[in-house]
Amino acid sequence: MIVRLGDFRFPDTPDRLYPRTPQRPWVLEIGFGDGRFWPHHARSFPEAPNYLGVELSGVSLLKAQRRLNAAGLDNAVLTKLPADVLLREVVPAGGLDRIVVNFPDPWPKAGHTDHRLLRAPFFRLAASRLKPGGDLLLTTDHDEYFDFAVAEAHASGVMAVQTAEPPAAALETKYALKWRDLGLGVHHARFTPTAAVTVPHGAAQPYPEDESTVPHAVLTLPATFAPTDFDKVTQRDPGGAWTVILLDLYGSLRRDGWVALAHVVEDGLTQEVLVGITPREDGTHLVRLAKFGGPVITPGVKAAVAAVTGWLEGHGAVVRHRGY
Ligand SMILES: C[S@@+](CC[C@H](N)C(=O)[O-])C[C@H]1O[C@@H](n2cnc3c(N)ncnc32)[C@H](O)[C@@H]1O
Repeated sequence: MIVRLGDFRFPDTPDRLYPRTPQRPWVLEIGFGDGRFWPHHARSFPEAPNYLGVELSGVSLLKAQRRLNAAGLDNAVLTKLPADVLLREVVPAGGLDRIVVNFPDPWPKAGHTDHRLLRAPFFRLAASRLKPGGDLLLTTDHDEYFDFAVAEAHASGVMAVQTAEPPAAALETKYALKWRDLGLGVHHARFTPTAAVTVPHGAAQPYPEDESTVPHAVLTLPATFAPTDFDKVTQRDPGGAWTVILLDLYGSLRRDGWVALAHVVEDGLTQEVLVGITPREDGTHLVRLAKFGGPVITPGVKAAVAAVTGWLEGHGAVVRHRGY
């Protein structure tokens, strides 16, 4: 089953994600590519553990879903997100039995190591989301990234490292076969938490059923308000938590109002959200985050509603109420 960020809870639970098998062990695979690992690996258990797979590539997501369906693995959730966002926002503290990373992108060029997944802050986050006795398995062909990951795990201060043989299924992934055909070997390590670590969840919330808590504002527009052009607006949180870019403003033919398109970037998460500006019966206008696209409500998304409101104030609107 493919689940979008907006359909998760923050944090979520096995009871909700795997209602028929909530008691089974829970495995997260990061960067599953075309999804070959899990159908192989799941067979090595008497009962397939609950599986959570996270990928950045939408094409990979569809390929993997086909493989999991063909293997009859119905207690599997796939999602398209950066792994650290999923771990931080969605996975509960101490929720996972295992995290698997097979052939992560090595970012080999000098100066690109900041893009690597397995850095010390990530190991701390992973340790906080693993159960006691849980582990993180890394298999890679890349000598330098392997040494880098081991050094970062030590630097995190919360992970012990053992080198070992990889699980057989890790040698059957698309990238494993690619490196094997080139005659290259692989490295494998098992990282286990050595200390209890707390990494708080962020402030993400699902779009509420009760629309009264959706970020909004009520304002009175000047009678002459009829925008004909729109210049991009960029706002940054002084603390660096988010950047909001208002990209465009569209007239609504159906509702006699407008819709602003905003790009919101915060802590690894990027969302494109729509903010509606619609007339109300009493002559005021409602500025409100639209449900379209399944947005997750975060401080950056609230800031996008505030930015639209501020832009309207700059064009003569008088704000009656702020709900963000
Ligand atoms: C080199 S491929 C390996 C794919 C697969 N594990 C295999 O062994 O064939 C790395 C994969 O990780 C995904 N990826 C990279 N960074 C990621 C991140 N931050 N979160 C989730 N997936 C990521 C990429 O989209 C890519 O599919």
